[in-house]
Amino acid sequence: MPVARPVKGPDGSRPRFSSDQIGFLERAAAEYGDIFRFRLFGMPVIVLNNPDHIHQVLVGNRHKYDKEVLLYKLVRPVLRNGLITNPGGELYMRQRRMMQPAFRPAVVARFADGMTDETNSMLDRWRDRYRPGQVADLSAEFSELTLHIVTRTLFSAQVGETARRFAEAFTETNDILGRFFRFPFPPLSVPTPAHRRLRRAIRRMDDCVSAFIERSSTPANAADSAGPDAGTGKPGHGIDLLHLLMNAVDEEDGGGMDFEQLHHEVLNIVVGAYETTTNAMAWAFQVLAERPDIEARLHEEIDTVLDGRPPGMDDLRRTPYARRVVEETLRMYSPAWQFMRRAREEDVLGGHRIPAGSNIYINSYILHRRPEYWEDPDVFDPDRFTPERSKDRNRHAYMPFGAGERICIGQHFALVELQLVLLAIAQRHRFTLPPGQPPVRPQPLTTLHPGGGVHLEVRPRSGAAGGTPPAHDGDGGEGQDGRPGPAADPRSAS
Ligand code: HEM
Repeated sequence: MPVARPVKGPDGSRPRFSSDQIGFLERAAAEYGDIFRFRLFGMPVIVLNNPDHIHQVLVGNRHKYDKEVLLYKLVRPVLRNGLITNPGGELYMRQRRMMQPAFRPAVVARFADGMTDETNSMLDRWRDRYRPGQVADLSAEFSELTLHIVTRTLFSAQVGETARRFAEAFTETNDILGRFFRFPFPPLSVPTPAHRRLRRAIRRMDDCVSAFIERSSTPANAADSAGPDAGTGKPGHGIDLLHLLMNAVDEEDGGGMDFEQLHHEVLNIVVGAYETTTNAMAWAFQVLAERPDIEARLHEEIDTVLDGRPPGMDDLRRTPYARRVVEETLRMYSPAWQFMRRAREEDVLGGHRIPAGSNIYINSYILHRRPEYWEDPDVFDPDRFTPERSKDRNRHAYMPFGAGERICIGQHFALVELQLVLLAIAQRHRFTLPPGQPPVRPQPLTTLHPGGGVHLEVRPRSGAAGGTPPAHDGDGGEGQDGRPGPAADPRSAS
């Protein structure tokens, strides 16, 4: 039985993955199709591009695969044994069982108003920050927004300063780890200056997570979590997601999570939720600025459905075009663009032998653009996700959140957040490309960034949706605090 063919250049040489990861994979997929192999830092890696083979690895034969591979080993010193990096097995299954209920759609729905509030707070800050037509650094804005949203839903809103310190430490950690695939470095145990900086950044992230948890464990906050506002993410009203995790009980053994495991899981959730959603938002608005036709349809839907009020959970099903814009963004610019598995035992995929111990590499950026499954794959076309046009497509050809038992636990959270943020921002602002701006290209780091960031001219929309929609509830408009900017954020837990 054949094994996957090795990638070779026209002269028989081995092209390098690390110098141009996307180009390398695109060229290899065009030439070799469903399956091929290459060497990554001396290790053989098998790349899967066929949706059914990928489904077999992630779902059908999942018991034959685990996460004992380079990609996760690399980030394990940071994320330890949380859900993202846990190699698999009993501990993993127990954690996932306990945590799953906290991410059910009905629970996520309770965070929706907090997401919209945070977005409108950001837009209120923009009034002071940007003159109409001024260029905004949307990557930086969305990075701050997603962190506010995740910390608000996990820990309540009173975490401004800690969240900022966490963001700095996270960015530094990510910068160092993100360089690995371009400039592979020695193991983290070797005390290079970069590794020492990394250790310090990890310690700072740990301190922030401990501060979040300790603050949430105070009797006042714990009592709030049982009150009528629990789960709404209202400032000072209960901790919601964190309390759900603190109180989670395994249905099989009746036990809960110890502090250390809780700490790791919280870190994994924040990391899982932060950059992925930030990048998706940034890509979505970059595309809207490039495609006024799509922006106009979105505006029309928003103005008809919302009629000037802020979006809420019920509006998500009433705004199918916005949902399709989100889906198409996640197709073309899948933020968690690569994942890996190790074959624990031999398998056969599409007639190819997968020896035990093989490293399997899956890349959703490439999968989502394979012309065999996607018509005009390089065109941003939200309507490809209408039910009519989706029905004949191989449904495993789209997996921005992965698949199977390790599918993203935060996928409902992310989809609700992305759609609400899109609605709330496009309701009040429109965006244009600065003159002469070069095209924004994907930059493959730990997640798929818009290279150089997204910088767009921002203008309030005229008419009904141009002003600040009223605060949606009676919490004193806490989310609309007119913060002048990150450095002056008054909401601090520390
Ligand atoms: C657009 C946003 C997001 C994308 C594209 C995304 C994508 C993914 C993907 C592809 C995986 C599976 C990786 C694998 O199988 O190796 C994953 C896992 C995970 N994600 Fe997300 N994610 C997003 C948002 C979130 C959010 C908002 C959270 C938390 C609130 C989150 C938390 C996690 C966690 C904890 C895991 C590990 C799950 C497990 O193995 O059991 N993610 N994500």
